[in-house]
Order: sequence, then structure tokens, then C-alpha cells
Amino acid sequence: MTDQSKDRVYIFDTTLRDGEQSPGATMTHDEKLEIAELLEDMGVDIIEAGFPIASEGDFKAVKDIAERSKETVICGLARAQLPDIDRCWEAVKHAPRPRIHTFIGTSPLHRAIPNLTMDEMADRIHETVTHARNLCDNVQWSPMDATRTEWDYLCRVVEIAIKAGATTINIPDTVGYTAPRESASLIKRLIETVPGADEVIFATHCHNDLGMATANALAAVEGGARQIECTINGLGERAGNTALEEVVMALKTRGDIMPFYTEIDTRKIMHISRRVSTVSGFPVQFNKAIVGKNAFAHESGIHQDGMLKNAETFEIMRPEDVGIAGTSLPLGKHSGRAALRAKLKDLGVDVGDNQLKDIFVRFKDLADRKKEVFDDDILALVTAHMADEQENHLEIVSLKVICGTAGQAEAVLEMEVGGAEMSADEFGDGPVDATFKAVRKLYPNKARLQLYQVNAVTEGTDAQATVSVRLEEDGKIATGQSADTDTVVASARAYVNALNRLHVRRGKTGGDVKEISYKDVS
Ligand code: KIV
Ligand code: ZN
Repeated sequence: MTDQSKDRVYIFDTTLRDGEQSPGATMTHDEKLEIAELLEDMGVDIIEAGFPIASEGDFKAVKDIAERSKETVICGLARAQLPDIDRCWEAVKHAPRPRIHTFIGTSPLHRAIPNLTMDEMADRIHETVTHARNLCDNVQWSPMDATRTEWDYLCRVVEIAIKAGATTINIPDTVGYTAPRESASLIKRLIETVPGADEVIFATHCHNDLGMATANALAAVEGGARQIECTINGLGERAGNTALEEVVMALKTRGDIMPFYTEIDTRKIMHISRRVSTVSGFPVQFNKAIVGKNAFAHESGIHQDGMLKNAETFEIMRPEDVGIAGTSLPLGKHSGRAALRAKLKDLGVDVGDNQLKDIFVRFKDLADRKKEVFDDDILALVTAHMADEQENHLEIVSLKVICGTAGQAEAVLEMEVGGAEMSADEFGDGPVDATFKAVRKLYPNKARLQLYQVNAVTEGTDAQATVSVRLEEDGKIATGQSADTDTVVASARAYVNALNRLHVRRGKTGGDVKEISYKDVS
């Protein structure tokens, strides 16, 4: 039961727009639809689904997400240009509850780029917000870099936007420059000063350049903001954005000093965090609040002893409240399909019968190799299943690697490339190097390896390894992830996943969101 005596705060998730904009986080169409579905299921109020003018792919993703949505408001981003706003409307209008979000950079630095005077920019804001409002009765307006905009000018443009029909005014801290006290007072003063401010919702959109995004967002709520813009895992350009899981759990855990509530089903947090990590290729840091691998781990004797006596000694929230099945037992090779289904349900993963069949085969195979299969192993299996469900240009058929002290490592690889099966036998400086060379032999490419990272999913020498790979080719970045008890197999799959993504990106027609310029407002 939600406490109606508290003020409601709307959660606006921009993982699919601001999050997806971070270099290398590009998601496929199907992945975007899946994440949108999980966000709606979790109870997010508004989903910013993309930037429709940016590319055909972005437009289609926003349109398809809008068509599938039920209750959630579906929002698209548009610069302060009439064609952008029209394109955005064409995509979001299919939603039962559409929203247009239009923005322009209002700080001196941002005004200088399109070379608009204050008056010219004010006219542009009036024209574009009026246009958006004539199309859609739910319009959000943002003065980008608001926290570095002159106070008088900020008040002036916010008033213009409200008069032109904006229903939500978002105050972005675009470069993560503000601090909590200033964040609260900026919103409070705007609400007190700007005529008409009490008729709209104020939103906060904080970037994390100084590590204060979540604190700044919560302070803005104390100042009167009632919409928090955030992303899963804090995904976003540079140091990222306010993390959804952090603000939601902070409000839930410290309702005594922050009497505000959201409608988020927090038990879905862990699953969506893992899915976003996988599809974006951005691993979650171990000590990340709420969703990091160590967020509920206790190593020291004193802590472990305290935990055994009373979990509240060292935990301020219960793992099960964020979707970590606290005390559940690991599965083993004798566990059946019903146990696996129940475990998936516990972990917040809904799968159809066919998907369950495939995940069960993977589970049995893993259980044969590993004594106990933990929750993290199961989630890694789901991830691998989802990745393989997609149609891929490259598919590994088999891999055999010989390595050790006797000489150079050798990899014998069979792979399908565009449907044709081929094989290669390569030597290298260690098993991973030999394997990657074999992949490159069968699929020559000039992608540069920017990151290769291995993490153990659970403890023990039989643990699965999660491998993340990031590639760069002509300024385009693609990431891949995979997990297996064999680190070399996981590495090969992660590399091939990243190459498949690059292949898709090369084939993309139209502009790309990374290449469209925010500054181009004329
Ligand atoms: O950070 C920012 O200013 C943005 C705007 C487009 C709202 O993401
Ligand atoms: Zn942003």
C-alpha cells in the first residue's frame, strides 16, 4: 500500500534516450522494446523512448514502443526545430499517453553556438513550444544547461514555455555542475518566482560529473520538483545520470526524512539492472549502490557475525526488496523445470514455455559442470539465451583451444559468417589472443579492441565468467557480453556479439544519434 499522505514523485526513465546516447551503449531494436516493456512493468511513469529525428532506427523504436505501451506516458525528444517536433509527434502519437519533450541550450555557452541573441532564443522557445502544444496536450520543455544559465534569463524562458503550453518544466544539470543545496533552492526559487509555475510539474535531470547526481535529484524534490529523470544503473554520457534504483530506494528507505513516494515495484530492479547492463554492454561496478555485486555482500568476520544475528545490523534494506532472492537455495543438477520456473519468477524474470525449454537445457548443461547453480548463474543463462535468440551475422559453431606451457596457444574455430560455415586455425599469445585472431581470419575487420574485461559471476574455480568486450571502428562503438564456465568460450562469444552489433550499425541507414548535433538549432 502506498502512503497517500506523502507527495507523489513521478519517475521519468531516460535509459533508452540519454542512457543509450553514451558511447558504446547502442541497443538493438528488440532490446529497446524489451527494456521498455520491463520499465512499464516495473511501474515507471514516463519512458523517454528515444530521439525520433536522429535516425530511422530511433524513430521506429519510439513508434513501436508507443504502440505497445499501455499506461505509461511515452515521450520522445526533439530539438527546438519544427521538423524535429513533427517527427517526434509522428512517433509518439501512437501511444495512449504521448508526450513531446523539446529542449534548447539556454546558458551563455550554449546560446553562443547557434549564435542566437537572448531575444531570438526567447522567440524560438515560444514558437516551438506552441507548435508542440498544438500537436500534443502533454509537452515537456527543458532549458539545457539550466544550472549555468543566468537566473533572470532562466526565469524569463521558463515563463515563456509555460505560457506557450508546456505542462512539465525540466531543469537539467547537463554537466553535473550543481550541488544539493543549490539544486533544491533553484527549483524552490523558480516555483516561487515564475508566474504560472504552480500549474506545471517541475522536473530534475542531473548528470553525475561530480558524483552528486542522485543527491542533487533528491534535493530538487525537497525544493519542489515532482518528476525525477533517471536511468537504470545511472547509464549515460560521461559519468552518467541519476540512477533510478538509487532515488527510488532512497525514497523508500528514508521516507521518514523524505516523505515522497513513487509507484515503482522495487522487486523488479535487479532484473532490469542486469538486462540493461547486458544489452548496453556496460558492466555494473561491484560497489555500485543497490545493484552492484557487493551491495549486499559481507566479508569481514564482525559483519558476518552481525548479519547472522540480525540482518539489520549491516543492511538498511532487504535484498528481496530489490529482487535479490535473499535466502533462497541454489539449484543443482537434480532440480527440475518447475524449480527453474519458480526461481526465474523469484528473480523477476517472466519467460514463455519455449524460452523456458531453452533456458532449461542451458541450465542442465551448466549443472553438469558446476555443483551449485546460483541466482547470478541463472540470470547469466537468461542473458545468454536472449543474445542467442537474435538473428546474427556471425555464429560460433565450435571452438577448440590448446594452450599451456608447451608453446603458443592454438585456436581451431568453426563459425558461420552470413550463413556460410567456415573454419580457421590460428596461433596467438595466449588462448584469447589465438581465438580473436581466428575470428578475425574468418571475418576480417578493422575494429579496435578498446576494452576486454573478465568478471567471475559467483565464487569458486567452477564459476561462470562474464566477459565484456568493447570495439571501435570509424568512430562507431559496439559492445558485447557473454558468460560461460569456460573463460575463453565466453570471450569468443562476447567478441562475436560485439562484431554482430558493429555489423548492424554499419548497415544502419540515416543519421545516427551520436552524429546529430544538439547545437544545430537553426
Ligand atoms: O542533460 C541534458 O540537458 C539533457 C537534455 C536533452 C534534457 O539530456
Ligand atoms: Zn541529460
